[in-house]
Amino acid sequence: MRQLRADGSLRHLITLEDLPRPLIERLLERSQSLVRPLGERPPVSRALAGCTVANLFTEPSTRTRVSFELAAKRLGADVVNLEVQLSSRVKGESMLDTVYTLQSLHVDALVIRDAETGVPATVAAHVAPHVSILSAGEAHVAHPTQGLLDALTVRQHKSRFENLSIAIVGDIRHSRVARSAWHVFQALGVPDLRIVAPPALMPGPDEFRGCARHTSLETGLAEVDVVMMLRIQKERMTEVDLPDAHRYYASYGLTPERLALARPDAIVMHPQPMNRGIEIASDVADGPHSVIRDQVRNGVAVRMAVLSEVLAWRSAA
Ligand code: NCD
Repeated sequence: MRQLRADGSLRHLITLEDLPRPLIERLLERSQSLVRPLGERPPVSRALAGCTVANLFTEPSTRTRVSFELAAKRLGADVVNLEVQLSSRVKGESMLDTVYTLQSLHVDALVIRDAETGVPATVAAHVAPHVSILSAGEAHVAHPTQGLLDALTVRQHKSRFENLSIAIVGDIRHSRVARSAWHVFQALGVPDLRIVAPPALMPGPDEFRGCARHTSLETGLAEVDVVMMLRIQKERMTEVDLPDAHRYYASYGLTPERLALARPDAIVMHPQPMNRGIEIASDVADGPHSVIRDQVRNGVAVRMAVLSEVLAWRSAA
């Protein structure tokens, strides 16, 4: 699936894998210009007036869905939120028929979250040439706007990527957040990227190439600049695979004591939703190292940057 148009501009955003570094940097630059401190008014424009963005989410979402909606509205676009539970999909209509319907209603960009692998790419292969597909989370495979907002958050606190140590901790095997983080941090030249997980939650050996693997949180966190915690993806596991919450916290929970193993100025990230007391202690989640709420704020800026990029040809027309 080609994500770029012939002129090198972004048409779809389905994965960060193989996205050219200058394009990633341009998106981060534009996102940064759209970030405002809380309490100030966020930037608004009419750049995408007359465009329509549809949110098609078949998995639960709070931050991603709301921030795509706000991003589109702050650029002047019309937004349709399809409540999939109430739509004809429950009557057996296929995803593609739903997509064709939205296309007939002049939707220009479709934001898709789905638990099944390959849905965004399949839809992208079938839509008309003027329609863009943006993944808002594909199974365990990719969550590209989350990867970009994570990179933006790191960039705000650590000026350079080239000398960073980053540990991604938790249920790596089932995490689309971890995969997109791996892609973006690798593209940006992070030299020390670690994945930290119990053996059962480690990805297969062919994945996460270039990352150091740690099954001990103590070695995994040693002297890192960034600690990125993940939620256990219960919905992608069977009952038998599910780790016991207390035992998990005892070995892999991020407590203030464990965070002390990282560098003194380390930042703590989490894509949310958080399970306090399972993967992270409340003292850490709400503590001085946490940039978790910055991640949420940055999400709107990143989604505005991405929407402007894929629909730029339309706003210029
Ligand atoms: C994540 C997701 O849905 O992949 N949430 C998010 O988009 N911020 C992480 C998660 O559900 O654990």
